[in-house]
Amino acid sequence: MDGGVTGSLKPFNIALDGPAGAGKSTVARMVAGALGFIYIDTGAMYRAVTWKTLRRGVSPEQADEVTAIAGAMDIELLPGAQGQRVRVDGEDVTEAIRMPEINRNVSAVSSIAAVREILVGLQKELAAGKGVVMDGRDIGTRVLPNAEVKVFLTASVEERARRRFGELSNPDITLAQLAEEIAVRDRMDSEREASPLARADDAVLIDSTGMSLQEVVDAVLDLCKAKRGGEE
Ligand code: DC
Repeated sequence: MDGGVTGSLKPFNIALDGPAGAGKSTVARMVAGALGFIYIDTGAMYRAVTWKTLRRGVSPEQADEVTAIAGAMDIELLPGAQGQRVRVDGEDVTEAIRMPEINRNVSAVSSIAAVREILVGLQKELAAGKGVVMDGRDIGTRVLPNAEVKVFLTASVEERARRRFGELSNPDITLAQLAEEIAVRDRMDSEREASPLARADDAVLIDSTGMSLQEVVDAVLDLCKAKRGGEE
């Protein structure tokens, strides 16, 4: 474990982007814990809008209605003992936003440019002047273009599918089907017009295929140390 970057660092922003299943949220949470920073899961915000859209009986294809919903809802990301809790208009949706129905619809919602504008605005506000680790798809390119540390975390489709499969307690899907789902989501996230998944020119690429979680966390902490080491 790298203890050299903890302590009295001035707050700064870490942008962590990458495709689905690359381990971003776990890595981001651990890095935030090591630095005493706030972890912000932007995917949860797109999931929350998707949840509210479906709850209202609105199709994710109805861009204007979805945008109105996104503009009027209150999304809270709260630190909790078991990880971040998510509340929409006061209702806890932490588990609900991870359901397969949300997985199937969230790409459509997150491809609506006006929805992205609303959420990107909120994300910028959440990070301003604070020590945050923010994970997503467009953090280094669009949300926090001036982040002091930018990482693009990836792994092969097969490795990402294996990791997700290992997390399922009652898999009703085969490993091959899961890999195909991940590949489809990669394509939708990378090919959409509005802020596609992309590596920022100044982001450091970490391919975690074959790396342990701790090795990835240490690599990110090393980058923080290299960037900020002289500024204490
Ligand atoms: O990271 P995740 O799987 O929870 O993200 C859910 C979806 O939200 C994913 O399909 C991509 C989208 N997303 C996005 O478009 N921009 C972000 N900053 C974060 C997530």
